[in-house]
Amino acid sequence: MGEVWLNHPQLVRFEHSVDRCLADATFVARFYETFLASDPAVREKFEGVDLDRQQKMLADSLRLVLGAAQGTEAGRAHLEHIAERHSARGLGIGPALYERWLDSLIAVASQTDPQWADDHGDLWRAGLEPCIEHMTRHA
Ligand code: HEM
Repeated sequence: MGEVWLNHPQLVRFEHSVDRCLADATFVARFYETFLASDPAVREKFEGVDLDRQQKMLADSLRLVLGAAQGTEAGRAHLEHIAERHSARGLGIGPALYERWLDSLIAVASQTDPQWADDHGDLWRAGLEPCIEHMTRHA
């Protein structure tokens, strides 16, 4: 850890896109709708989970993960925490479900960010893949 994943202009564009999505109060709820519908294995993992609470938590988490991409200490600490929580010692989330997670997030972001451009999907992917790699290495 400690490396910066995107160059500065890319990070700024990624961050602004995330901000525009999170400014839409329906973004995170629509993400969970899409993510849960993407695979029965995802629905199984979320059985009994309070989705209202989970939605607030994901919005906070996205900001922290964005911080990790910028090399902040709080972001890195959060990444360590969620990597452990999702590992085989905790929730037992395998790599395939992270694919569903990222595809769902980008699909919903593309329908939410009013300034979405052709390369935004690549930006979101490049911004979040190192985080996912870290989490799956930890698994
Ligand atoms: C990079 C991607 C992801 C991020 C940033 C993320 C973030 C989080 C955070 C912050 C928590 C709360 C941790 C805590 O209890 O302190 C959480 C819980 C959880 N996550 Fe993820 N997650 C990701 C991917 C996934 C994937 C792929 C799944 C697959 C189904 C998943 C399923 C869950 C479940 C089931 C919980 C527990 C909910 C509960 O029992 O309250 N997550 N996640």
